[in-house]
Amino acid sequence: MTTLFINGSSRTNGNTVAFGERLLAGIPHTTLHLIDQHLNFDLDQRGTGQPQRDTRDDYEALMAQFAAADDIVIGTPVYWYNMSGQLKTFMDRWFDSFTTGFDFAGKRVYLLVVGVDDPANKATDIISKAFAESCDWLKMTYMGAATAIADGPTDLQQQATLPAEALKVRQTLVTMTQSVSRETKS
Ligand SMILES: Cc1cc2nc3c(=O)[nH]c(=O)nc-3n(C[C@H](O)[C@H](O)[C@H](O)COP(=O)(O)O)c2cc1C
Repeated sequence: MTTLFINGSSRTNGNTVAFGERLLAGIPHTTLHLIDQHLNFDLDQRGTGQPQRDTRDDYEALMAQFAAADDIVIGTPVYWYNMSGQLKTFMDRWFDSFTTGFDFAGKRVYLLVVGVDDPANKATDIISKAFAESCDWLKMTYMGAATAIADGPTDLQQQATLPAEALKVRQTLVTMTQSVSRETKS
C-alpha cells in the first residue's frame, strides 16, 4: 500500500515540492513531477467512434502508479488564481480513465496549494471546489486541503513550521497510512 505525491508545479524543487515533502516527512511515498511527464491535452472523443484513450504519452503509465496508491497527495502552485495548467491537464485526462473503467473508488486524495497572494481566500475555494466535486464524481475520498504562502523558490523551505491546517492534513495522512500498515500486518 503506497502513498503518492504528485507535484503539479513547473518547479521540481520549489515551494510545492517543499510543502509536500515536509508534510510527508517520515511517511514512505513516491514523488512524481507532472512537468517531467509527457501529457497531452484531453481529446473528447465522444461521438467520433474513436476510443476515449490517448496512448501516445505517459498518461497511462502515470495512472498505473495512481492505481497502486491508496493515499494521493496532489500539490499545485496557484497560477492565475487557479491550479497549474499541468495539473488541470492531468485532471482533464481522468475523463479517459473514467470512460475506460479505471477504479478511482476509495482513493484518498489530499490537496496542497501554494501561492503568494492570500491563497487561502483568493484561490483555494476555486481549487478545492473543483477538487472536491471531481473526487465526489469519481467516488474518491477528498481528505482535505492545506495552503501555504510562498513565492521565491526556497520560501517554503525557510518557514520554521508548516501552517496549522497542513499539520492537520499530515496527521490525517499519518493516521491513514499507519492504520493501513497495521491492517496489512495483521
Ligand atoms: C504563471 C504564474 C502565475 C501565478 N499566479 C499566481 C496567482 O494568481 N496567485 C498567487 O497567489 N500566486 C501566483 N503565482 C505565484 C506562485 O503561486 C508562487 O510563486 C508559488 O510559490 C510557486 O510555487 P512553486 O515554487 O512550487 O513553483 C504565479 C506564478 C506563476 C509562475
